[in-house]
Amino acid sequence: MARSPARPTRRVRRLRWRFDLSKTNIVQAEGSSEFHRPVMVDEVLEVLAPVKGETFLDLTTGAGGHAVEIAARLGGHGVLVGMDRDREVLRIARRRLEDAGFANFQLYHGNFIHCRDALDEAAVDTVDGILLDLGVSSLQLDRSERGFSFAEDGPLDMRMDTDQQETAADIVNHAGRGELERIFREYGQERFARRIARMIVRERQQAPIETTGRLAALAKRAYGPGWRRIHPATRIFQALRITVNRELENLKQLLDLAPEIMSEQGRIAVISFHSLEDRIVKEDFRSRAYEGEYRLITRKPLRPTPTEVKANPRARSAMLRAAQRSVQ
Ligand SMILES: C[S@@+](CC[C@H](N)C(=O)[O-])C[C@H]1O[C@@H](n2cnc3c(N)ncnc32)[C@H](O)[C@@H]1O
Repeated sequence: MARSPARPTRRVRRLRWRFDLSKTNIVQAEGSSEFHRPVMVDEVLEVLAPVKGETFLDLTTGAGGHAVEIAARLGGHGVLVGMDRDREVLRIARRRLEDAGFANFQLYHGNFIHCRDALDEAAVDTVDGILLDLGVSSLQLDRSERGFSFAEDGPLDMRMDTDQQETAADIVNHAGRGELERIFREYGQERFARRIARMIVRERQQAPIETTGRLAALAKRAYGPGWRRIHPATRIFQALRITVNRELENLKQLLDLAPEIMSEQGRIAVISFHSLEDRIVKEDFRSRAYEGEYRLITRKPLRPTPTEVKANPRARSAMLRAAQRSVQ
């Protein structure tokens, strides 16, 4: 019997698992444009509970997957303000919101730590809901020229905002050995941090390391042949991405700012994808709840259902926490 062309061979399935290829969350939408598949949409809507006429702020609009769902609940009298550091994805979000027939939205390109400026420009004082969906969009991850992925060779870039100067290659080629080791250990929890940092310093003396492929090959050599399942480059790529985009600093700064831009009934929801981010969110929400500034909507992080993870494996590490302002 002929093999069905739709079913990948065992080898391809193994490679896909190893290189995360099957875990992309681009979905083919009507009109054949490629979209990022939003994670935990039902849970986000449940905890943020947008209602008609409210004003929401989607700080990581990306391709607009969550934004479209939120806008549908805000109705014609609601307002949605969106932000993203990536100009390219905002173009997609704009088209999706327009196609969905939502008119009351404003999208801004920029770092969410500057959201007060965006709100001022949109003539919005406070918002009833804030969403942060951290991490990378599939539209960034799956384009080798953006340099986020080791699955395909590309320039070692990793900038979410291409207006920014510093790239991952700048860090890899100019940071000292100790600094590289710290980055890999702290942001990647990489057990071979020292070995990889040493190998980078040695290798860049021959020629600058400028491609994802060369760095991934170096990580593989550092691990030797014994690695299983998780590709040896996974953790150092995560660490470099966090560093290039100052992800943890931005998150902390935004969480400090959030209560000032929330209405009295304001809700905030954060989806994080690794424990470093989740810990920051957990500590911020808990200490504000302790001070009486917030009421926790989630005591433990909500996780995606097995059905969602099966349909969209990228959702597997998502953790959702939410809180509401509590005005005494
Ligand atoms: C996981 S994606 C969001 C996907 C989006 N919720 C959707 O449904 O399409 C994360 C997005 O956050 C953006 N981002 C990350 N850090 C940011 C920051 N500090 N300021 C603004 N946008 C940021 C990234 O550029 C990326 O597009």
